[in-house]
Amino acid sequence: MDLKSFNRFEIPDPRTRSCLKITEFNRLSTEINKLCGIKLPDSKLVMVEGRLRRRVKVLGLETFEEYVKYLFSETGAKHEMVPLIDAITTNKTDFFRENAHFEFLRSAVLPEVEKLQRNIFLAWSAGCSTGEEPYSLAIVLSEYFEKSKMHSFSIFASDISTEALNKAIDAIYSLECIEVIPMDLKKKYLMKYKDPAKPQARVCPGIRSLVNFSRVNLIEDEYDVPGDLDVVFCRNVLIYFDKATQEKVLGRISAKLRTGGYLFLGHSESILGMNLPLKRAAMTVYKKV
Ligand SMILES: C[S@@+](CC[C@H](N)C(=O)[O-])C[C@H]1O[C@@H](n2cnc3c(N)ncnc32)[C@H](O)[C@@H]1O
Repeated sequence: MDLKSFNRFEIPDPRTRSCLKITEFNRLSTEINKLCGIKLPDSKLVMVEGRLRRRVKVLGLETFEEYVKYLFSETGAKHEMVPLIDAITTNKTDFFRENAHFEFLRSAVLPEVEKLQRNIFLAWSAGCSTGEEPYSLAIVLSEYFEKSKMHSFSIFASDISTEALNKAIDAIYSLECIEVIPMDLKKKYLMKYKDPAKPQARVCPGIRSLVNFSRVNLIEDEYDVPGDLDVVFCRNVLIYFDKATQEKVLGRISAKLRTGGYLFLGHSESILGMNLPLKRAAMTVYKKV
């Protein structure tokens, strides 16, 4: 193949690809911050451009300029805000992510709660993404309560992304994704598809039925989640908010915990300098006082 035909067929001309201009990016980042608290400094322009390119295409538009115009039109405001949030949120998660937290739950929190003789154990995964976190919790709690006198528990799981929530409800994961789950638990709680063309597994109905999913925007003033919770996992969510928003969100989450309940944050998140009714119990784990 000569160079001319190689160019013609293999290399897309970058000039024909629409770019997101800084003025459009600024309008988008202000709107996203207002909708869900996510802060997007100028350094995120290329990331936002990449994440919204699919939306531009799906809507049959040619440029980001057209997309921004549509988003702020009456129809766009009605129909495009949810897909915008779905496209912008970072949904990276894993089964048993930051496993030390699940170990702490097993070895410290659950035996402590068992002594209190509560009728039911309540947990909330706030910012649950595609479900790996609440299902990991459901597996740990099922294993524990199988051998314990206290046998009733319920898990609430919420996220702002409807796309992530739908995946969580489907509970179908690639075999690669479930590799981290210990073999005995995998055999007990996941069902592998027999079709070799479908290298996936689904969380078993018993575990699925233990988790109640709903859409909760953590920057709103009220959360439609029960109170008196024993544990809240809100991990790797606050990093996307500014400090003032983090403190407000943590204040509302703390109000949902019972005194003595535990809050689990992500490895790079902290409550340092915040005025909250929480004291450190372990690495990025806090107890309500
Ligand atoms: C990186 S994931 C973390 C998932 C899981 N907690 C973990 O640690 O593996 C962050 C999640 O926070 C969600 N999120 C971002 N802003 C939110 C908001 N305002 N309200 C609720 N969830 C939000 C995103 O949709 C995303 O699924």
